[in-house]
Amino acid sequence: MEQNPNEESQKEQNPTEQGPTEQGQTQQDQAEQISRKHVVAGNWKMFKTRDEAQATVREVVGLVGNIQNVDIVVCPPFTALGAVEEILTGSVVQLGAQNVHWQDEGAFTGEVSVSMLADYGCSHVIIGHSERRHYFQESDEVIQDKLEKVFSTELVPILCIGESLEAREADRVQEVIPSQLERALRELTDPQTSRIIIAYEPVWAIGTGRTATPELAEKVHFLIRSWLSDHSSVGVADQVRILYGGSVTPENAGQLIEQENIDGFLVGGASLDAQSFAKIVQQSA
Ligand code: PGA
Repeated sequence: MEQNPNEESQKEQNPTEQGPTEQGQTQQDQAEQISRKHVVAGNWKMFKTRDEAQATVREVVGLVGNIQNVDIVVCPPFTALGAVEEILTGSVVQLGAQNVHWQDEGAFTGEVSVSMLADYGCSHVIIGHSERRHYFQESDEVIQDKLEKVFSTELVPILCIGESLEAREADRVQEVIPSQLERALRELTDPQTSRIIIAYEPVWAIGTGRTATPELAEKVHFLIRSWLSDHSSVGVADQVRILYGGSVTPENAGQLIEQENIDGFLVGGASLDAQSFAKIVQQSA
């Protein structure tokens, strides 16, 4: 089960955005009330057999099993969910899936439902990863349907958004990101929106070894939080965890996590190795 994002103090909001209140509360006091628990999720994609998966999570649990102030999630392929669940039971590391169908059940060859994921003890599910959008033609409508289904359960969606290299080079980020948010989130209520985890993953940074600079990532994270604030409320925007994804490594995680609006990571390649995944978690703690 997802914990309250505000349970652990992680990062303060920019105090310069708010003035003193009538009660004489200082800007700093207000800032201290707003905090988000970091999240580090490993997206294993189409890697690892059951044995390999068990060996990796055993090591992960050994390395980060005592870290309480980060939500740690591993997302193995469907075929390894059961094997990984066996190891994770009773540990702080949570289990996520990489995809889900939007119907409860039916004649959908090759697909998996929300109740099947719950059956394996999944607490999280990745929705709309750019590889799903690109290779499997997942449209914004499909992503919206999946979110709606996920919200009828206890699962926490990790919604992926991000611009292509083409959009970045054409200076269209300010247009693409809000439009992805609008299409995915427009039907959600405020309580649903505050439960979502958003992963900003610039497509040009995924699996390329090309990471967004901390400043560049922070700019987009700020844009996302501002959009949430305008379309829901400041309170909702303050609660939503926004992760960065795209060639995150133990070498670049430290600087990225220092940014005001970066609340953790969705890690691909580096999450396949327990040691490097653990280092990223430790830097986010
Ligand atoms: P990467 O993948 O860390 O290998 O770039 C990130 C992702 O696809 O979620």
